[in-house]
Amino acid sequence: MRDGTGRRELDLPEVPSEIRVFFENSPVALGLASPVADHELVLVNKSFYTLTGYRPSDAIGRNCRFLQGEAENGSARATLRAFLADDAKPNVRTPIINFKEDGTPFVNLLYMSRLRSLSGNTRFIFASQFDVSRSHPDLLSAYDRDLGSTLIRLSPVIAESGLIVEGTLTTIANTANVIAQAKLTLADLDDASFL
Ligand SMILES: Cc1cc2nc3c(=O)[nH]c(=O)nc-3n(C[C@H](O)[C@H](O)[C@H](O)COP(=O)(O)O)c2cc1C
Repeated sequence: MRDGTGRRELDLPEVPSEIRVFFENSPVALGLASPVADHELVLVNKSFYTLTGYRPSDAIGRNCRFLQGEAENGSARATLRAFLADDAKPNVRTPIINFKEDGTPFVNLLYMSRLRSLSGNTRFIFASQFDVSRSHPDLLSAYDRDLGSTLIRLSPVIAESGLIVEGTLTTIANTANVIAQAKLTLADLDDASFL
């Protein structure tokens, strides 16, 4: 059942406290979602709020697609759905059009992977967001370094809870190209009727 915000009334999985502390101290935007039902968010951090303008209380309990507003995002969403549907896929990365809380559009370079229990069950879907549209190659490289070290530092933290992080960050071959593409996508958006 949904209330007016698209929030579901269901029991979301409990997030271990060491993960909460780690997320709160991370310089990159991070989110964690339930692996079942509609992948409702169970945790977002301060950097997610800085990036999107949405507070944890606005986001927790909702599927993160609310950031897409009216944008179609056909192929990006298909890529994300294929990742979520295939438990054997370790991670995924795609640009996707999102909107900040104040309505500003941006191209979100979204990274997703899984946190698994030692027995192999997916316990959480992990995600990180970055505004690639207002970026330049140095900023994206710095973000990639931060996200890479976040993933490495997260491993021993969640090992305390018997969890492992899946996948590693494979650096984008041509960062300048990703950014140029993101800017073109935004220029297209400016012509779109819903803006
Ligand atoms: C943890 C997590 C974080 C996500 N973060 C975002 C996000 O920041 N922006 C976005 O557009 N989609 C995000 N998604 C993807 C959407 O929730 C959804 O999976 C995607 O839109 C494809 O499904 P759909 O076609 O049913 O909407 C996230 C998903 C998960 C599981």
